[in-house]
Amino acid sequence: MRIDILTVLPELLDSPLNHSILKRAVASGVAELVVHNIRDYSTQKHQQVDDYSFGGGAGMVLAIEPIDRLLTKLKGERTYDEIIFMTPDGERFNQPIANGLSILNNIIILCGHYKGIDQRIREHLITREISIGDYVLTGGELAAAIVADAVIRLLPGAISDETSALMDSFQDHLLAPPVYTRPAEYKGWKVPDILLSGNHKGIEAWRHDQSVERTKRLRPDLFEGNPQ
Ligand code: ADE
Repeated sequence: MRIDILTVLPELLDSPLNHSILKRAVASGVAELVVHNIRDYSTQKHQQVDDYSFGGGAGMVLAIEPIDRLLTKLKGERTYDEIIFMTPDGERFNQPIANGLSILNNIIILCGHYKGIDQRIREHLITREISIGDYVLTGGELAAAIVADAVIRLLPGAISDETSALMDSFQDHLLAPPVYTRPAEYKGWKVPDILLSGNHKGIEAWRHDQSVERTKRLRPDLFEGNPQ
């Protein structure tokens, strides 16, 4: 899968996308991740990419031209399944959306900045708008990194134990069970006996019960309509 991220602040994406599982997924060819600087597609002096808002008001607005030039170039090179704009007024991101995106071949993620982007970009160039939650970030970069992370870790080969992505919280509307590692006792705090028992059926049943209990207690909204 290939993800192209379009931004005016590519440096903001350097760190989140260049470590651990994402770095390995890209290095091993499981995912292709390309960050583009929208400024490189400006024809204005000083590579300006924003302008005053028509009708007045505070804040600069990202202009359509450099974004359209960059999108046109990319679309000429391959077919994109989705062109996503990160925005707090988009559809709320969740696990089913991540799952759906992870089976696509090529996606573009456009990050907004400043006061907003010219509405014509949203109307004519974007296929989908996604929010990571009901709060406003300074730009879409961190939100794009979250979407890329959630999607790439689902790709076959991204995580060494392929079953672990399917065991995640939310994949079956249940929160994940608690996990423990050595030592079996620390300051008198003990790991549940069942996990040390070697009884695999019993461990599986315990984990499921824990998931159900945690979901009912912490996220009753997820549990509703859950047949377990
Ligand atoms: N850009 C600014 N805030 C955002 C949010 N909550 N989700 C996605 N993109 C954003």
